[in-house]
Amino acid sequence: MAARRRKNVHSVDTRSLHEAAALLRRGELVAFPTETVYGLGANALDAKAVAKIFEAKGRPQDNPVIVHVSDLRMLRKVADPPPPRARALIARFWPGPLTLLLSKKSSLPSSVTAGLDTVAVRMPQGLARDLIRLAGVPVAAPSANLSGRPSPTTALHVAEDFPDVFVLDGGPTKHGVESTVIALEPFPVVLRQGALSEESLRKTIPGLRHAASTGRLASGGGPFSSKVNGAAASPGTKYTHYAPTRPLTLFLRKSSLLAYVRAHPKALVLCPTPLAPLFPKQRTLALGSSPEEIARALFAALRTRRRGSELLVLAVPRRGLGRTIMDRLERAATRIV
Ligand code: TXA
Ligand code: MG
Repeated sequence: MAARRRKNVHSVDTRSLHEAAALLRRGELVAFPTETVYGLGANALDAKAVAKIFEAKGRPQDNPVIVHVSDLRMLRKVADPPPPRARALIARFWPGPLTLLLSKKSSLPSSVTAGLDTVAVRMPQGLARDLIRLAGVPVAAPSANLSGRPSPTTALHVAEDFPDVFVLDGGPTKHGVESTVIALEPFPVVLRQGALSEESLRKTIPGLRHAASTGRLASGGGPFSSKVNGAAASPGTKYTHYAPTRPLTLFLRKSSLLAYVRAHPKALVLCPTPLAPLFPKQRTLALGSSPEEIARALFAALRTRRRGSELLVLAVPRRGLGRTIMDRLERAATRIV
């Protein structure tokens, strides 16, 4: 069914934007597109509104949410003044897909940060920023999916998970994967790989450490590691994520994928477009060619309704955005071979 035919999905115009802003001010939930993925937003300064996010998503209370601001004045309502390193990143990358851990203001409800004394903040681009500016309040927003499902990159994905929430339909999102989350204290470290690559961040903070992979491969078989070089990783990274519609196997070698497909002709292969000719046409779901295209198509592919007994995917090189793609694939995979 087309997203727009769903009663709770609203195309973007002045009226729907004002309605969404009024709902936020009134303590209600609104789902809206950001440049990364769709967010499920509530007034961050209203504890009751924030509780609705956790309730609707089935999100564990110990997993803090990101606060979105439209400008630096609004930032002051939720966080202490950013230290110099943070200021440099803000100047270079905001508005954009970068989330920073800053020291939390005591007036911000503690449920937003799950009791932590840091708050994760970002300033999104475009429509999301317009909406927050119009609402006039900082907006707490995790990705707009039920806990454990792939993040939504279209309004229809949101409506699948939340048939009763007001959704602003801004079309498919630009990056398709979530923001990069970094902490600056006690040293700069990437807590969650994201739309902004470590390589580009390192130009502004040369000493940036990269998180030990929190995926299944690097965790030594146990549940996701929650420690990164002695610093706590993003709490959310320890939870199961991105559950696809059918079991997903991540192949590290092309030869083993090809052999597996020959033996399992009913499987559906999510593959970079240049590799598609290697497989029967009706058995492939092409993701695109560049890492940017693959990132954009990935979460929709994990939600695919196409026929196929299981989903198969081939590893991509861990460079730039490829690192983020691999992080998401490792979390989504039922097994890695
Ligand atoms: O692109 C994005 O970041 C999207 C859009 C909507 O902005 N949001 C998003 O939120 O992905 P969510 O809640 O799905 O992921 C937020 C991540 C989680 O891993 C969470 O644990 C972490 O950020 N996080 C939030 N506050 C934190 C804090 N104070 N300390 C450490 N990690 C935190
Ligand atoms: Mg999420």
